[in-house]
Amino acid sequence: MTTYITTPIYYVNAQPHLGHAYTTIVADTYSRFRRLCGEDVRFQTGTDEHGDKIVEAAEKENVPPREYVDRISAMFRETWPLLEVVPDNFIRTTEAEHVATVRDILQKVYDNGDIYFDEYTGLYCRGCERFLTEKELVDGNCPDHQIPPQEIAEQNYFFRMSSYQQQLIDHIKSNPDFITPERYRNEVLSFLSEPLEDLCISRPKSRLTWGIELPFDETFVTYVWFDALINYLTGLGYPGGEDYTTFWPFSEHVIAKDILKPHAIYWPTMLMSMGVPLFKKLHVHGYWNVDDTKMSKSIGNVVRPRQLVDEYGIDTLRYFILREMSFGLDSSFSSKAIVARQNADLANDLGNLYSRTMAMVQKYRDGEVTAPGQPGAADVAFRDAVETMILSYREAMGAFHFHRALQAVWDVISMANKYIVVNEPWALAKDSQKAELLDSVLYNLLECLRIVSLVLQPVMPIASGRMAMGLGLEGESEATRFLDAGGNWGVLVPGSRVKPEGPLFPRLESRKKDDGKKEKPHSKKVKQVLQSEEGLIAMDAFQKLDLRVAEIIAARPVKKSKKLLKLTVRAPEERTIVSGIAEYYQPSDLVGQQVIIVANLKPVKLMGVTSQGMVLTAREEIDGEERLVLSTVSDIVAVGSRIN
Ligand code: MSP
Repeated sequence: MTTYITTPIYYVNAQPHLGHAYTTIVADTYSRFRRLCGEDVRFQTGTDEHGDKIVEAAEKENVPPREYVDRISAMFRETWPLLEVVPDNFIRTTEAEHVATVRDILQKVYDNGDIYFDEYTGLYCRGCERFLTEKELVDGNCPDHQIPPQEIAEQNYFFRMSSYQQQLIDHIKSNPDFITPERYRNEVLSFLSEPLEDLCISRPKSRLTWGIELPFDETFVTYVWFDALINYLTGLGYPGGEDYTTFWPFSEHVIAKDILKPHAIYWPTMLMSMGVPLFKKLHVHGYWNVDDTKMSKSIGNVVRPRQLVDEYGIDTLRYFILREMSFGLDSSFSSKAIVARQNADLANDLGNLYSRTMAMVQKYRDGEVTAPGQPGAADVAFRDAVETMILSYREAMGAFHFHRALQAVWDVISMANKYIVVNEPWALAKDSQKAELLDSVLYNLLECLRIVSLVLQPVMPIASGRMAMGLGLEGESEATRFLDAGGNWGVLVPGSRVKPEGPLFPRLESRKKDDGKKEKPHSKKVKQVLQSEEGLIAMDAFQKLDLRVAEIIAARPVKKSKKLLKLTVRAPEERTIVSGIAEYYQPSDLVGQQVIIVANLKPVKLMGVTSQGMVLTAREEIDGEERLVLSTVSDIVAVGSRIN
């Protein structure tokens, strides 16, 4: 199988931001996923460097367009490695090869009679670089740029786009996957239900010189969209290149909704006129807003990828944007949301599963991967769940449902965390009769982690590599690279050794903490206690407290209470504890966590539930905002262990 995946080529009138980063990370993730499935992949991105907008931006900076485009294009090229984005080709529309291909294509289309010269009066929006129809205007303004378009009358060359209208409708109707998600397909079909106008594809040099000269009239340059869309072919060496023959039939374009019309209407009709088969798929996503507001330079809320990587790290950023956005819909970025995902999904769920498993393999098997025993029903069920996840993951990733693919992976992570709680490896380790059972439990967990690291590779390449290294899988081997449709289980070799190096993901504090404000000084009362003996307690008083390590085995909300959760813990005997942490933790995230409890408190009734003890929490207060964080131990400990 083969895949050719492209991003839009970005205008060089602005520096890369979160929106560009999202599309490019999506394309990179998809290309990595396809490679993981053993496919031959080509991934292309680049920059769109001609046209009015670019000239205007260069003029503002007082530099010649050539110098300006070189500078901004380099910024895009240099941004992608910072996000672990690895394109096979970075194309620029000012490259000689692209210019030559555009001119060849124009000549071909002209020769076959699809380009004609005509007088035209139209409403031109400089921001969109195109003529708008009356119907598109909102209160007389361009809907995207909120300014009235200029009325321009001039002679120009036109492409007979209208001749291909019916052919395009037929193609879209008979290929349901040509434009996805469906809402964008419907949008295009609805647009095509009205008569299509021909496309103006030239600009007189009297108005614009920064463009590709028409091969059949040197007094005109090419309209920037007719030039830019051709990049997808130039990058493959069209018409002669081997790459063109290999990859073009498998071409998939990723764009956002803003440039649907050029990609879904101009581009296929251009290809029809050229006699080139249409691209295979157009994947259209929504827009990122920031804190629920449109990202814009004038508001000053433009988020830069470099800044995000510095603040949150590459993997967290990639995971967050793919997990948070449902492909096709708009989404909102906020620092709070990314920190919450890092702490809950990455540090807690995945990070804990990894470090607990590694710690147990170190502790109970001296770091060695031991052979599993004869598989019982529980082993088969565990393995089935992991293999079912691979199938759902493959299906979702292939359909650009990245958030669903990640959900499927996290379901397995949470299943594995529960599996630890249910099987109590620490208890098995104490019983020599259960050695084989412990080997199986540990092997199942390690294999599960190996597969999780594999499926996460397209999304979080660095963490995935660290997990694979920790599992003792060095470099690029079949075990770390190839994701087969079946037969994925059992690749780890008994006798090999794990080599974990520290936690996978640190917990992040929300941004407020490091905004330069000083930590609150100790309260007066605490100072007094530290300075005098007043209020101090003797050791024997402290020892009266029975503090124990407990494992949460169930968590449920308490009826009619926003704050309370009913926890069932094992320490090692089962007991119920009511804790006021409902605003800070999801019940499902708590199961499997080890916490510290006060085991000898007199029972109390809270909202009708009897609480037999108390879970210790840190009460954090920053700028009047309070948060409770559960206390825990730094390694897996047998439940019931005493704290002193
Ligand atoms: N140069 C044209 C594309 C030509 S492709 C043959 C262009 N460039 S652009 O720099 O404006 O990039 C538009 C693309 O950037 C969008 O389609 C999308 O991929 C990405 N995004 C820009 N802002 C975005 C958001 N706020 N949210 C998500 N993606 C957005 O159009």
